[in-house]
Amino acid sequence: MNDQAEALRHLVHTKSSETVKTTRIITITSGKGGVGKSNFSLNFAMALQKRGYSVLVFDADISFANIDVLLGTPAQYNLIHLLKGEKTIWEIIQIGPNGLQFIAGGSGFKDLVRLSEEQLEYFALQIGKLNGHVDFILFDTGAGLSKETARFIAVADETIVVTTPEPTSITDAYALIKMVKLMGHQIPFRLVVNRVMDDREGKQTADNMRQVAQQYLGLDLPVLGFIPDDSNVTRAVKRQTPLSVAFPDSAATRGIDRIAASFLLEHTSQPTRGLAGFLNRMKKLWS
Ligand SMILES: Nc1ncnc2c1ncn2[C@@H]1O[C@H](COP(=O)(O)OP(=O)(O)O)[C@@H](O)[C@H]1O
Ligand SMILES: [Mg+2]
Repeated sequence: MNDQAEALRHLVHTKSSETVKTTRIITITSGKGGVGKSNFSLNFAMALQKRGYSVLVFDADISFANIDVLLGTPAQYNLIHLLKGEKTIWEIIQIGPNGLQFIAGGSGFKDLVRLSEEQLEYFALQIGKLNGHVDFILFDTGAGLSKETARFIAVADETIVVTTPEPTSITDAYALIKMVKLMGHQIPFRLVVNRVMDDREGKQTADNMRQVAQQYLGLDLPVLGFIPDDSNVTRAVKRQTPLSVAFPDSAATRGIDRIAASFLLEHTSQPTRGLAGFLNRMKKLWS
């Protein structure tokens, strides 16, 4: 048994004496790729941690998993080990900078199609164990509405859609929301506008999207906040260090921090979908 697994078991063990947490699942997604979902997920997680919440980031981008690369923390075990039934959920949770808990995606998606019923059952049961372990699970998905991403959206309490002010990113984000709506899922969406020149551009983008979603989909699309275009993001990626660790005072870090603050403000007034449903929702993930 390695030290990390030991530490986690201890963590889990000591949790039992405390009040049981209600775990809220947030899926982070986008229409177009490369809009900043993964960087947002990581730094949003760290901003929530800074405010005293425990968070687990789950790399749900099956094709292009890269959370471990962004964190500069090579993952010993990943999602694939769990899916194959080789490791338990506690063994695949890795610890990144600032003690951030994450599950790396790994590669080898093709193997998934060969999973047996028992393997899927094992996967769902293991993921279900995360209930109460942390305050928030963030699913960082791939771009566009793949079958897998639709599942992650369907089991979440809420979906955060990331877009940039570019028209291509906006139309793709809208198309994704529309598809989810047409699939009949009643998941609340909120918008994050990344890489804005200024707040005015962010507000304009958000207002446009909100209006179109309201008019054509009858859907409320509140904005969670804006993140400025900031070269420190690219710098942090190159250093393989999360932005909020490498550049805590940068404009983008501050933007994400404001988003965490407004997210938590809303969060306290929102009901979750309940503890009992957690496992059933997880079973839906790969069934
Ligand atoms: N706020 C930002 N300012 C400047 N560049 C950014 C910003 N957010 C993201 N980027 C750039 O976009 C790239 C892709 O980000 P990433 O989080 O990997 O996107 P996704 O997960 O949506 O594919 C980053 O490596 C960085 O260069
Ligand atoms: Mg990504």
